[in-house]
Amino acid sequence: MELIKIAGVNYTYSDGTEALQDINIVIQSGEKVAVLGANGSGKSTLFQLFNGLLEPTAGDVYIKGLHAEKKNYKAIRQIVGMVFQDPDDQIFSPTVKQEIMYGLLNMGQPRQKISGIVNWALQVVGLEGYEDKNPYYLSGGEKKRVALASIIAMKPDILVLDEPTAALDPRGVDQLVDLLNKINKELNITLIFATHDVDVVPLLADYVYVLNKGKIKLSGLTAEVFSHKQAIWDNNLRLPRVAHLVELLVRDGFLSTTELPLTVGEAKRILQSKLKS
Ligand SMILES: Nc1ncnc2c1ncn2[C@@H]1O[C@H](COP(=O)(O)OP(=O)(O)OP(=O)(O)O)[C@@H](O)[C@H]1O
Ligand SMILES: [Mg+2]
Repeated sequence: MELIKIAGVNYTYSDGTEALQDINIVIQSGEKVAVLGANGSGKSTLFQLFNGLLEPTAGDVYIKGLHAEKKNYKAIRQIVGMVFQDPDDQIFSPTVKQEIMYGLLNMGQPRQKISGIVNWALQVVGLEGYEDKNPYYLSGGEKKRVALASIIAMKPDILVLDEPTAALDPRGVDQLVDLLNKINKELNITLIFATHDVDVVPLLADYVYVLNKGKIKLSGLTAEVFSHKQAIWDNNLRLPRVAHLVELLVRDGFLSTTELPLTVGEAKRILQSKLKS
């Protein structure tokens, strides 16, 4: 099922900045999609079109068949859960618990169910015991988790995450990758995330879009997109580090393979079979 359709979309800010040009994207239910691109390439602008925070200057956005326009925004915001790039733009309640409750009450969840959902969401993001803390004083990574918990609690069909791994410590990144894969699989939530962390992309995305100066320059299955090495470089990105290592070993004649591993697991498999033979 087509959950998101972006057709011929342009977005120009009031000062004349053409942040998005001729964007066409279709995302199916259950997919995990990464949006990559340098600073200022238009990722956050694109994401704000998904739940009506911005309206396209031209073209159309459809969410689960609903045209993105004022009369549909309430319904669309129940379908699309958005975790912002900066948690300070998102969090405003005096306690963690109230922050998570806010959206649930707004959705009309019965009060007797709410405390169970709050506990579940905090457990999912690894913040049990934080209920009564003031989010203002939490660390950057903890704030990110609170923002994520408040959105997951509403069980959206689509989870949109702008730079979800920024500000997380290394274990926090690994945990988030596992968590998002689990949410996608077990709750059947479609994932769309923007990131600069190319090492995380093969672990979390089936499909990749590359933006450059507001235009889609590359798109396809994750392995296919990373196989266009020159285009990756031309769009101010790089390969995952493990792919780069294997590339260097091949270049210098220490290894002979046409495969390009994107994860440590894939590299291990290739190197083991070569080292054995
Ligand atoms: N409110 C605004 N008014 C004018 N221009 C804006 C506004 N917000 C963003 N822009 C411009 O739009 C372009 C796209 O910005 P956007 O924030 O979408 O990029 P991004 O890909 O999310 O970048 P980053 O990786 O730094 O988060 C940039 O040139 C930016 O300067
Ligand atoms: Mg951004």
